[in-house]
Amino acid sequence: MIFLRSSLIAGLAFLANVRGQDTSAAGGDVVASLTGKGFDITHPGESTYDSASGSFNLRFSYKPSIVAYPETVEHISEIVKAGHDGGYNVVARSGGHSYIAAGVGGKDGSIVIDMRNFKDLAYDAGTSTATIGVGNRLGHIITFLESEGRAIPHGTCPDVGWGGHVGYGGFGFTARMWGFALDPVISMDVVLANGTITTASETHNPDLFWALRGASGSFGIVTSTQVQTFEMPSTATTYTYKWELDIAAATTALNSYQEFAASNIPKELGIELLLGKGDSKGSVSFSFTGVWYGGPDELASVLQPLLDKMGPEDSQTSTPGTYLDSATTIAGGSLDTGDGGPGSSAFYAKSLVTPEAMPMTSEAHEAFMTYVANEGFDVEVDWFFQVGLVGGQDSAVNAVASDATSCPHRGSQFIMQFYAYGETMPEAGLTFLDGTVKSILDNSPADWEYGAYTNYADDRLDNAQSLYYKNNLMSLEIMKVQFDPTGVFNSPTGIEGRTVEAAQP
Ligand SMILES: Cc1cc2nc3c(=O)[nH]c(=O)nc-3n(C[C@H](O)[C@H](O)[C@H](O)COP(=O)(O)OP(=O)(O)OC[C@H]3O[C@@H](n4cnc5c(N)ncnc54)[C@H](O)[C@@H]3O)c2cc1C
Ligand SMILES: *[C@@H]1O[C@H](CO)[C@@H](O)[C@H](O)[C@H]1NC(C)=O
Repeated sequence: MIFLRSSLIAGLAFLANVRGQDTSAAGGDVVASLTGKGFDITHPGESTYDSASGSFNLRFSYKPSIVAYPETVEHISEIVKAGHDGGYNVVARSGGHSYIAAGVGGKDGSIVIDMRNFKDLAYDAGTSTATIGVGNRLGHIITFLESEGRAIPHGTCPDVGWGGHVGYGGFGFTARMWGFALDPVISMDVVLANGTITTASETHNPDLFWALRGASGSFGIVTSTQVQTFEMPSTATTYTYKWELDIAAATTALNSYQEFAASNIPKELGIELLLGKGDSKGSVSFSFTGVWYGGPDELASVLQPLLDKMGPEDSQTSTPGTYLDSATTIAGGSLDTGDGGPGSSAFYAKSLVTPEAMPMTSEAHEAFMTYVANEGFDVEVDWFFQVGLVGGQDSAVNAVASDATSCPHRGSQFIMQFYAYGETMPEAGLTFLDGTVKSILDNSPADWEYGAYTNYADDRLDNAQSLYYKNNLMSLEIMKVQFDPTGVFNSPTGIEGRTVEAAQP
């Protein structure tokens, strides 16, 4: 079943792919045309170029044609038009934390629009809304809103940029209570592929607004967002329970976690299963960790049904504190943010989004744990996997229809992330993750309606777009032609246009 935005078309006669611009054919001297325009640029040959073009993931080193640092939306419009006219691929970089270096183009020769000067941050107590410029990093946003007693949903890493994060989802421990980061967004300011400066909301450009909430980079350069905020919880308790389990015990524990996920758990519970390399071959490190946003005394009884099915843990922590304390703890100890630039490891990540209506099978759990306890012990890379809970009764993520925004991951049970890292990323690290996901898929029904999470971008995924956008993909492909007919905004996992002719009645 494919849903199309009814405002788009009446019927279909044929669809044809429209490919993005071939940037190797880029013409025109974009450096000359963007010099002396009132904003900084850097390009190959300049001393600032290497750090300006570095990627957070050291697995990639793309060479953009130019990195620009606009200061106004008019500057952005001018840069996009120059890119459009010269046949360049144009990308925004907000926090530079794309897994596949999409913020530096995801290939050579792009125009990178660095959004560091778009750091508006304001709160309006009258409407409880915040204005959040895309150049802010999560750490800034958390501490700013905290001073107003407010908060919004998002992921854990303080250095991640708002622009990329909100454009493709934004998943963290508050998701079950408040949704994805993009859910409370009420409007977005954006520069389109033809340089038009506009705003998108439910009432103004609603189709564009729909597309920007899930696939933003394929449709425009978002400059600022208006976001509905939430009352900050008065307390938050971070917790971890840890075991070392053999394959049989880990399989049983995974079944128990899935049963717990389907039970009546309060939306104030944020939880993930964190898996790591075992102490010996045939075992895994198995932890439940997260944040409880209800009263500190209630956590034990909320987790009890899950813990009752587990043996005694090897270690356990449970730390009540303020909301800010919890955000700091899950950020790894500090909310301070750097100014981007190259990261410190080469990594590869894959994801699976599992459907609540079709939970993983016991066979899949067993194959997964067997693979991880054996291959995961032998493989010579560091790795961790997270099985984060999205679903359960009253989940705010799942209260939204799968076609209400272009982000389709509603009715989901888990967002799973498989992450391997090191100083370099050997082929064995890549194939280890491929094998892990395969162990699950090979033991799942052929019609299993799984997806993949767009913010954990995977450059080696064959059917990426359909896993990222599911039933919303075709609407996005049709809209792409309307909003970006020549494919100015491209990324390896982005939307490619399709032309449509209405069927004769
Ligand atoms: C250490 C780490 C931890 C993470 N933890 C989480 C987590 O807990 N939860 C979660 O959901 N995700 C998490 N992520 C993934 C993260 O949400 C994505 O990588 C996100 O897209 C990064 O946004 P960015 O602006 O920093 O990256 P960028 O590299 O700047 O951008 C990412 C993509 O978005 C596009 N883009 C950026 N800004 C704009 C804009 N203004 N307008 C249009 N398109 C834009 C870029 O062109 C690029 O394609 C994590 C990533 C890292 C590296
Ligand atoms: C720019 O693109 C938008 C979206 O397709 C369109 O509505 C608008 O008319 C275009 N503007 C110009 C000047 O072509």
